[in-house]
Amino acid sequence: MTDQNVKDKVQKTQKINGVRGMNDLLPADAAQWAHLEHVLRDLTRAYGYEFLRTPIVEATAVFQRGIGEVTDIVEKEMYSFEDRLNGEHLTLRPEGTAALVRSVIENNLIYEGPKRLWYTGPMFRHERPQRGRYRQFHQFGIEALGFAGPDIDAEIILMGQRLWDELGLKGVRLEINSLGQAPERAEHRAALVTYFEKNKAQLDEDSQRRLITNPLRILDSKNPEMQALIEGAPKLLDFLGEESLKHFNAVQALLKANNIPCKINPRLVRGLDYYNLTVFEWVTEELGAQGTIAGGGRYDPLIERMGGKAAPACGWAMGMERVLELMKVSGSLPEAQAQCDIFVLHQGGETLTAAMIIAERLRSAGIDTILFCPPDGQSASFKSQMKKADSSGAAFAVIIGPDELAKNEAQLKDLRGTGEQKSVPLDDVLGAAIDALVGSSE
Ligand code: HAM
Repeated sequence: MTDQNVKDKVQKTQKINGVRGMNDLLPADAAQWAHLEHVLRDLTRAYGYEFLRTPIVEATAVFQRGIGEVTDIVEKEMYSFEDRLNGEHLTLRPEGTAALVRSVIENNLIYEGPKRLWYTGPMFRHERPQRGRYRQFHQFGIEALGFAGPDIDAEIILMGQRLWDELGLKGVRLEINSLGQAPERAEHRAALVTYFEKNKAQLDEDSQRRLITNPLRILDSKNPEMQALIEGAPKLLDFLGEESLKHFNAVQALLKANNIPCKINPRLVRGLDYYNLTVFEWVTEELGAQGTIAGGGRYDPLIERMGGKAAPACGWAMGMERVLELMKVSGSLPEAQAQCDIFVLHQGGETLTAAMIIAERLRSAGIDTILFCPPDGQSASFKSQMKKADSSGAAFAVIIGPDELAKNEAQLKDLRGTGEQKSVPLDDVLGAAIDALVGSSE
């Protein structure tokens, strides 16, 4: 073999790793995700929300126009590419709202009146990966479209609070603010520009640029050296007119009436450009730097901006990885579940045939069953099979060896309680298994 051949061979057999910041969901964690998804489904039903799924890839314009050109997401974090075949500009969705609004407009969904919708799935942002921050992460989100009043702002917040309670999360704080309406933001913007112009030397490069393009985004900067300057900047809340204040106060009154504590954070501006009036985030100190588990608000301008007939809307989305991490910290993750109810052991040959028929019979009756399959395709000792049965979490084992088969019997063994083992006629295994499982769960 030439050196090149050897090199090619090594390269072809070298392991290929996953993409940085994009994680596999491993079997050990799958039950926790399934539990969370189950709770989310129940929550959406409890409030009358309908499911909507959009594709993972959208035209780049959906996010440029929806989220806003001068935002971290659109400027720095999107996975955008040109379709090799037709040159279309496409993007892996970095969030769900703009895509959902695109779909709602395209499919005329709010033609007949308001809609409550929810979605879940992977999102993609090219951020620096760290604990709680990934390049592929998963969101669950709700969007209420076509409702203008403060009642729906309060309702979606109550939904979040109910969810945290249901999941047993500890140490979650609700922060809320109002971004008012466009003319109020314009006045605030002018005041911001004057303030930051005076302190221009303290602005980092990004913020100097944003001073011209989108000064509100400077308030969103995470640069620690600019925090004192940002702290002293004019507050948008001081520029709100009567109507905006009325809406904000009504939301707060409804939250208070429902015993939902919240902290007004005048610095909360959110990282996306579509918001107006109410904005909010749920934050925790328990997860280190990435402590925002969910965020959202009202986005009345978005539907029209995306080409639809103007209609109000609001919603929020949560990071599923962060919520699961907080469940872990709060000690509220569900216990690992058994893989099956019954594990079936055999010695190959005719005992395998009998074992497979019995396993199918058990499954037809709704009993989760794992049939032992020897890794070498031949056979394995009962001792090693029993180890597998034990680690599967099964409550009972059905054992069929040549001696049992000769007598047309199987052994039913209790793996968790007494350890009792008894002979059962092959035809009665199903009935005996049901009795045993019912007995053990009483
Ligand atoms: P967002 O604040 O950009 O809002 O994201 C919502 C949540 O997604 C965050 O609070 C966080 O928990 C999670 N998240 C964001 N980026 C990452 C990441 N790189 N790794 C892990 N988790 C992350 C939105 O996306 C809006 N669409 C929310 C909304 C819905 N507003 C109105 N309706």
